[in-house]
Amino acid sequence: MTALLALDQGTSSSRALVFDRTGRLLAVAQRELPQHFPQPGWVEHDAQQIWEHQVACAREALAKAGVKPAAIGITNQRETVVLWDRRTGEPLHRALVWQDRRTAPLCEQMKAQGLEPRIRELTGLVLDPYFSATKLRWLLDHLPGARERAVRGELAFGTIDSWLLWKLTDGRVHATDPSNASRTLLFDIHRGDWSDELLAAFDIPRALMPEVRPSAGVFGQAAEFGIPIAGIAGDQQAALFGQAALAPGQAKNTYGTGCFLLMHTGDQPQASTQGLLTTRAAQVGATPQYALEGSVFVGGAVVQWLRDGLHAIGASHEVQALAASVPDAGGVMFVPAFAGLGAPYWRPDARGALLGLTRGTSQAHIARAALESIAFQSAAVLAAMNADVAAAAARGAGVAQLQELRVDGGACANDLLMQFQADLLGLPVLRPRVIETTALGAALLAGLGAGLWASTGEVASIWQLDRAFEPRMSRDEAGARMAQWERAVRQVLAE
Ligand code: G3P
Repeated sequence: MTALLALDQGTSSSRALVFDRTGRLLAVAQRELPQHFPQPGWVEHDAQQIWEHQVACAREALAKAGVKPAAIGITNQRETVVLWDRRTGEPLHRALVWQDRRTAPLCEQMKAQGLEPRIRELTGLVLDPYFSATKLRWLLDHLPGARERAVRGELAFGTIDSWLLWKLTDGRVHATDPSNASRTLLFDIHRGDWSDELLAAFDIPRALMPEVRPSAGVFGQAAEFGIPIAGIAGDQQAALFGQAALAPGQAKNTYGTGCFLLMHTGDQPQASTQGLLTTRAAQVGATPQYALEGSVFVGGAVVQWLRDGLHAIGASHEVQALAASVPDAGGVMFVPAFAGLGAPYWRPDARGALLGLTRGTSQAHIARAALESIAFQSAAVLAAMNADVAAAAARGAGVAQLQELRVDGGACANDLLMQFQADLLGLPVLRPRVIETTALGAALLAGLGAGLWASTGEVASIWQLDRAFEPRMSRDEAGARMAQWERAVRQVLAE
C-alpha cells in the first residue's frame, strides 16, 4: 500500500499521521507540548523537546500503521522562531512562539520610524510581534555573542519546519518553503526571496537564513526513516491545500487554538485595506500562489479557558452540551482578547472582557457566549475579506465573492458552532469527511513532491463532504448580532 507520513507540529501538540493515497487516515500518534510563560505575554517552547516528541510520534504512528511511507510532509505552527548552532545542532534558546508579545515595543518603535507601509508592501503583513522578524532580532540582541556568531555563519534561523528538516536530515539541509517564509516579515512575497532591505531594517544577518524552495519537491532524505521529505507548508496553508481550496475565491477556516481564515487568490497577490494579510499559499511548481488571510488569535483556546481557567467544564467536548442547555447567551458578549486582538483589529494591547452580565447569568450563558465569540471573530474576518474582494472587483481585478466556507480543525466538530457560523455569514459552511486537513495537506504535498501524482488537479478529488450547514437566521438578525459584537469590541478597545 502506498502511504504518506505527515508531521504536524502545532502550538499545543506534536503529531504524526499516516494516510493512504486516497486520504484515508491509517494511524496517528500525538504528544502534548508543554508551554512556557516566563513573563506575562511571553510564550516559549523547548525546540529540542519539539524534535524529540515529533520523532517519537513518527515512530509510533508508523509502527501502528505497519507501512513504510513513500515520503514525509512537514506542516507546522508558523512564525515561531528557532535559533540554533549549525555545528552542534543545539538551540541557543527556547523557541519564541508566535503568540509571544515581548517585541510589541520594538514594533511600536519601528512604526514610529515610519517603516510599516514599506514593510507591508514587500511582505503583505502588518508590523506586529506575531511574526518572526522582531523575535529573531530579540534573540540576537539578548543572547551574548549571538549576533557576531550569526554574522560568521555559525548559527541558523528557522521556523519549526526548517528546524525539523535540519534535524531529520542530520544537519544536511537548511531550507523552508514560501508559505513559511512569507510569515517572517523578511521575505519579499513578490520577488520570492529574502529581502536585503528588510534584513537591514530588522538588523538580521543574511547568513542565518534558510534556502526557500517550492512546497512540493524532495527537500532531503530523512536518515532514520530512509525516505524523502517531499512536502513542507505552514499549517494554515497546508489546511487550505488539504481542503482542495486551490482555485481563486475558494476559502477555508481552521478552528484550532486560534482561527485562521484563508482565501486563495491564485497567482496574484491581493493587497488588503481591511487589516488582512497577503500571504503565500503552498506552491507546487514554479508559479507562486497567494492567499488573503485573517488570523484570530483565540479560537478553540477559549474552550480551554472555560475548562482550565473557569472550571466550567471538565473536558472540552462538554462545552456543546453546556452551551446548548440555554436558548441563547442571555445578552452576554465575550471578547476573548487573551493575547490581544488579531485581524482585522490588530491591537496587541487589547485584553479580554465579558460584557452584559446580570444576576441571571450562568456558566451556560458564558459557555454559549464563548462559542459564539469564535464565530463572531471569524465572521468579522470574512466581512473584511468580502470588502477587500469587492474593492478589487471594482478596480476590475481580483476574485469573486465567497460562495461557501470550508471548515476544519478540532472545533468544527461542534455542530452548534458551525450552525451559528453559517447563520452569521449567510453562507453554507462545509465540513469535509477528513477534518485533519492540515496533516492531509502536508501528506498530499509530499505525495506530489515524491511524484505519486502528476498534478494538483488529481489530489483535489480526495476532498469529500461530510455535512453542509445552511444559514437559517434572517440577514437582519445576523446584521444586528454582528453590530452587537462590534460594539463589544469597541468597548474593549476604548479601554
Ligand atoms: O500562525 C500561527 C498558526 O500557524 C498556529 O496554528 O494550529 O498551531 O494553533 P496552530
